[in-house]
Amino acid sequence: MNKTILITGGAGFIGSHVVREFVNKYTDYQIVNIDALTYAGNLENLKDVERKPNYTFIKQDIRDAEGILALFKTYQPDGVIHLAAESHVDRSIVAPTDFVMTNVVGTVNLLNAARETWKDNTEGKRFHHVSTDEVYGTLGETGLFTEHTPYDPHSPYSASKASSDHFVRAYHDTYGLPIVITNCSNNYGPNHFPEKLIPLCILNVLNNKPLPIYGNGKYTRDWLFVVDHARAIDLVFHEGNNGESYNIGGFNEWKNIDLVRELCRQMDEKLGRTSETSEQLITYVKDRPGHDLRYAIDASKINTELGYAPSVTFEEGLSLTIDWFLSNREWLQNVTSGGYQKYYEEQYGKQG
Ligand code: NAD
Ligand code: DAU
Repeated sequence: MNKTILITGGAGFIGSHVVREFVNKYTDYQIVNIDALTYAGNLENLKDVERKPNYTFIKQDIRDAEGILALFKTYQPDGVIHLAAESHVDRSIVAPTDFVMTNVVGTVNLLNAARETWKDNTEGKRFHHVSTDEVYGTLGETGLFTEHTPYDPHSPYSASKASSDHFVRAYHDTYGLPIVITNCSNNYGPNHFPEKLIPLCILNVLNNKPLPIYGNGKYTRDWLFVVDHARAIDLVFHEGNNGESYNIGGFNEWKNIDLVRELCRQMDEKLGRTSETSEQLITYVKDRPGHDLRYAIDASKINTELGYAPSVTFEEGLSLTIDWFLSNREWLQNVTSGGYQKYYEEQYGKQG
């Protein structure tokens, strides 16, 4: 079946894996990647698909309502998979308005364009909004986020994502826009920008630099290999029920300190270093303000309704991820030149 799918944020970490999955699997679809190429967007992530006949890249900022509407008029998409966002919690603490503009206003611009383009016929159309488990706030020591957990965001990032989710649902309820929302836990894998915990620690182990652990390190996240997130998006985009949300997770909780120790163990082994060498780089630093204690996803809905399960264990996924970074040092070098150094100094200090 011929379809045109707009994927926003396709040059980013998760978006590039979604683009690859769709371009390779659905050769009869036209995949149009819309990305503003911010510090987090990188066309190197898509080198292997950029010459495929069913792939097009357009540099476009989703904050520009007119530009977005014009793109919808040109491409007449059947579906939208919306990943473009400012995605880093620490940056949202420093510059919250940027998060409102891209994550909230940008999403509303896309919703308006979809509504206008599909106003005469919504048959076969779908707006898939890719969101996060952070909208649910924090868990205590026990319990899991379900699709019915009330929203309770704490950071400017999660507040902006929660707001965007509400707008997506409001356009479904008010205007009948066909939508699905997915709320996923922490991703990791190839192409992860080294401002987030796992790639930052891989980079710092390589460079023998401190591994900054916020607070007491007992904060807990539920980690999913990025390729498994892309598979889940494919499944929900095609088979999810109109108007519904699906949580995506790996039933794979790690306290940050335990995760970083496992990462050090695997890296020492792969780099041929004496065991526990890298662990000595662990450094406790000032906590993140408003830091959520624990995220953990109840992924039973997507599992029972759509038959979804992750394909790799965390240890396997982490090993694949480290191997990817070890064999893609040029990628790492390229993304950490320029603005990255300035960000790093502001976030962690000159010695960090
Ligand atoms: P990322 O920061 O790696 O990539 C974001 C992409 O969006 C980049 O390519 C960037 O250039 C683009 N972008 C940013 N602002 C834009 C704008 N104004 N116009 C057009 N493009 C713009 O993010 P990611 O980690 O790949 O996350 C992708 C999506 O998945 C986000 O919506 C995020 O909230 C969500 N999510 C992320 C995770 C995670 O663990 N990383 C987990 C759950 C959900
Ligand atoms: O839960 C999904 C979310 O996961 C996504 O919506 C976000 O886009 C994504 O960035 C991620 O958010 P987190 O804040 O959980 O990810 P991050 O990698 O920044 O941090 C993971 C944990 O590690 C968190 O408890 C903070 C801690 N941390 C992070 C950094 C960068 C540290 O201890 N030290 C660090 O230097």
